[in-house]
Amino acid sequence: MDFKNLTITKEENVAILTINRPKALNALNTELLNELDKAIDVLKADDEVFVIIITGEGKAFVAGADIAEMRDMTPEEARKFAILGSRIFRKIELMDKVVIAAVNGFALGGGSELALCCDIILGGEKAKFGQPEVGLGICLGFAGTQRLPRLVGIKKAKELIFTGDIIDAEEAGKIGLVNHVIPQDELMAKSIEMAKRIASKGQIAVRYAKVAINRGIDTDMDTGNAIETDLFALCFANEDQKEGMTAFLEKRRAEFKNK
Ligand code: CAA
Repeated sequence: MDFKNLTITKEENVAILTINRPKALNALNTELLNELDKAIDVLKADDEVFVIIITGEGKAFVAGADIAEMRDMTPEEARKFAILGSRIFRKIELMDKVVIAAVNGFALGGGSELALCCDIILGGEKAKFGQPEVGLGICLGFAGTQRLPRLVGIKKAKELIFTGDIIDAEEAGKIGLVNHVIPQDELMAKSIEMAKRIASKGQIAVRYAKVAINRGIDTDMDTGNAIETDLFALCFANEDQKEGMTAFLEKRRAEFKNK
């Protein structure tokens, strides 16, 4: 499938989705968001793809939602725009495949929010994160007020959102906004390496673990634990569980069929 603002490449069971609108620092306009929506559906349906890496072309990951498009929006248009972005980001978050954000540069506003909906965030040394929305006279629109405090804590999230300060990769690492800070020229190689490591595991088990984390985190401990227990039990209906445990006992590498 051809996209105007995105490219997709594949390496073994890993797909790399590159946001490719560098003349506007990959800013998210409606056209790009609709393409992202389609691309996620395509990758979701592709049985050969186990792990997805999202990155950006050029010096930005994504420099936010498109300010030129937003400027003259009516409140109803703005609502639709926010719903569109939030819906796609939630789809990424709940997707039954692991998604890694490889943040190569500016991840601001909606760009930071895109990284936040991914399962793992890897930052190149040139990565920069921030929520500069209040400086534009708007609050956040793609669920950053919900995900950022859950990730870095309420106080740090409030500071970042109220000041609009832009922080570098090192600071983002310190506050737990990125999993790892990686030398810039190794970002993609290391991201692919991690993606392949995840892709080599039992994918049903990875998917169940993602469901347990995502569903459990928004509920109480007992409900979350019950979700985990059921998914743990369900693993024993899969060939992968027999293969994984047999391989361990036979001191060999597991050959998962993801069945
Ligand atoms: N929307 C539209 N265009 C953007 C953009 C954005 N978010 N960010 C950058 N661009 C465009 C610039 O207008 C410029 O276009 P022209 O060449 O046509 O003038 C081009 O990309 C290059 O940008 P700069 O010349 O500004 O590059 P720089 O290196 O000097 O600065 C930057 C980089 C600090 C990231 C700066 O571009 C910037 O501050 N961008 C805006 C960041 C921002 O405020 N993001 C939040 C948007 S609101 C949002 O995201 C809300 C939401 O979630 C719903």
